Amino acid sequence: MTIDPNRPSSARVYDAFLGGTHNFAVDRSVASRIMEIVPEMAALARANRAFLHRVVRWAVANGVRQFIDLGSGIPTEGNVHEVALAADPEARVAYVDVDPTAVLYARDLLGDDPRTVVVQGDLRDPAAVLDDPALNTVIDLGRPVGILMFAVLHFVPDGPVLDATLHGYREAVVAGSLLALSHASGGLDPEGVDRVADLYSRTGTPFVPRDEQRFARLFDGWQLADPGVVRGPGWRPEGAVEQLSDPAASLILTGVGVRR
Ligand SMILES: C[S@@+](CC[C@H](N)C(=O)[O-])C[C@H]1O[C@@H](n2cnc3c(N)ncnc32)[C@H](O)[C@@H]1O
Repeated sequence: MTIDPNRPSSARVYDAFLGGTHNFAVDRSVASRIMEIVPEMAALARANRAFLHRVVRWAVANGVRQFIDLGSGIPTEGNVHEVALAADPEARVAYVDVDPTAVLYARDLLGDDPRTVVVQGDLRDPAAVLDDPALNTVIDLGRPVGILMFAVLHFVPDGPVLDATLHGYREAVVAGSLLALSHASGGLDPEGVDRVADLYSRTGTPFVPRDEQRFARLFDGWQLADPGVVRGPGWRPEGAVEQLSDPAASLILTGVGVRR
């Protein structure tokens, strides 16, 4: 596992948005330049994490007790396993990230809890991810599973790789499984999108925000759970939710699909 402190990574840039400490000067530089373009980036990242928490609680309440968190990121407060295990101590969670920093810190945080595992892998290769022996020690694909991709598919452009990725996970899971997605929308002006994409290109990652229609197509083959595709922090809010200004709220799209 090689960690290059001179090249920004999308995982560490996101950690910087959230005020984490697992990032380098190069990451903070990219993060602060993105925050100049999107001043509410930190609030958006928090809204994304709050969506994650609500989805996992809702999933457990609806009988889904195992989760594969793809593009899981650097551990931060309220990780999937913390939320899932609080709701059901028998829950199981596999974290998957391509970034060595994220994998390193996640392994450090999790220790040897047999209910959780961390795998370094590329979500665009579902067969390799789902065949991973470590992942299979905690995940039983014969039972419903929550496939989670939070704030990550906007790094995967349209095309055969995206199609095969979505198809791979959809066909591998049984009825009752869930696909939960959050995603950057096309709510920025085109010049802003280009500037953010240019900054992300330094991490080696393309940035492809999608509008509501293109986002909804990611759920093809799944039945969208109520309330469908939602902008901002509006997916099944619990109690008081952090308010985002109208333009900021329109920058994040969320939804959950159910496999029938
Ligand atoms: C913006 S962070 C989101 C982290 C977390 N899912 C969340 O929503 O809080 C995106 C994460 O996806 C990871 N990532 C990007 N492309 C990936 C890929 N092809 N396979 C696995 N992980 C990927 C990055 O390393 C990073 O940790």
